[in-house]
Amino acid sequence: MLYLDNAATTPVRPEVLEAMMPYLTRWYGNPSSHHTVGEAAAEALADARARVARVLGLRPADVVFTSGGTEANNLAIKGTAIAAAQRREDGRVHVITTPIEHESVLESVAYLERVHGCAVTRVPVDAHGRVDPDAVADALRDDTALVTLGYANNEVGTVQDAVALGKLLRDRRVPLHLDAVQAAGWLPLSADELGCDAISLAGHKLGAPKGTGVLGIRGRIPLEPLLHGGGQERGRRSGTQDVAGAVGLATALELAESDRVEASARVSALRDRFIARVLETVPSARLTGDPVHRLPGTASFTFAGTSGEAVLLELERRGVVSSSGSACAAGSDEPSHVLVALGVAPEVAQTAVRFTFPRWLNASLDAVADAVAASVAAVAEPGR
Ligand SMILES: Cc1ncc(COP(=O)(O)O)c(C=O)c1O
Repeated sequence: MLYLDNAATTPVRPEVLEAMMPYLTRWYGNPSSHHTVGEAAAEALADARARVARVLGLRPADVVFTSGGTEANNLAIKGTAIAAAQRREDGRVHVITTPIEHESVLESVAYLERVHGCAVTRVPVDAHGRVDPDAVADALRDDTALVTLGYANNEVGTVQDAVALGKLLRDRRVPLHLDAVQAAGWLPLSADELGCDAISLAGHKLGAPKGTGVLGIRGRIPLEPLLHGGGQERGRRSGTQDVAGAVGLATALELAESDRVEASARVSALRDRFIARVLETVPSARLTGDPVHRLPGTASFTFAGTSGEAVLLELERRGVVSSSGSACAAGSDEPSHVLVALGVAPEVAQTAVRFTFPRWLNASLDAVADAVAASVAAVAEPGR
């Protein structure tokens, strides 16, 4: 079986598991405990924090370990908006986002709107899923507390011009939060280079276990915690830390960063060849997302006249595991909100199939492209 659903999740890398093991077995202490077992855990946590901070170009104190990308996004968005509202006399703030974000962003923003009376602007994207940084700048208001944007989209792989946006926002002194869950391991993550103030990561997309994540957020950005309790993570995220998980995430992030440029170039070339072959051999195939500004590991299509779910089943029969888009949307009857925002007709959006490659990919995907052609031919409805 060939697993091509790496944007949904990845296997834990052996080096990561090995780095984690001592903190699951021998040094299992609570990092807040003042004895040798606890102090060993605290040291490992501090080391993991420093390693993550180095990759993000932030200070170790700016790193908040979370339970994953969803929590990191919730904390970044609700935490900054609520803290900003508390600092304003009228208690009202404005948040800017786009319609193609991951549900953890969309729903956090919707919550702020519904429960806290927050004003929200959803800046439209073009047919490739790119947002125009100038359109974001035009949407800014005096009370804009945050711009939150997916650095790279999880369904179609479109990469945003984060650097241009970061520069515009820095000049206007508005914090930028990047959901870098899909970008991590493929794109540069340095907060200074990107001009962002907050960045979310998820370990399980990188070869660390599920349930691990990070919000990197500059100390000068006020942040209201979502989890209250023992005051861990400098009061920003209470709860006993998952030390082994933090070690695993730091190890996976460093490993990915160490060959990021080489892996991105190698996988991009194989992806382009795969895309070209699918477009050549499957008449109904349309590439979704940006043809140039796209994640190295993502190839996504619609196959009008089929059903995405049926193509996936045919592909699996041929030994290829992929998905219809986001793991959450899989199996649902709703067309993807991302594709609809890109202007794809709802009935065509239902035919979406996404292939997401592992970073170690080093051989041609011609056989997969041929399996795609055979699968689409097997399920195509004549006359549609
Ligand atoms: C862009 C993006 N943001 C956030 C998340 C949520 O991360 P997690 O699964 O760790 O909660 C995902 C997961 O698919 C994602 O693709």
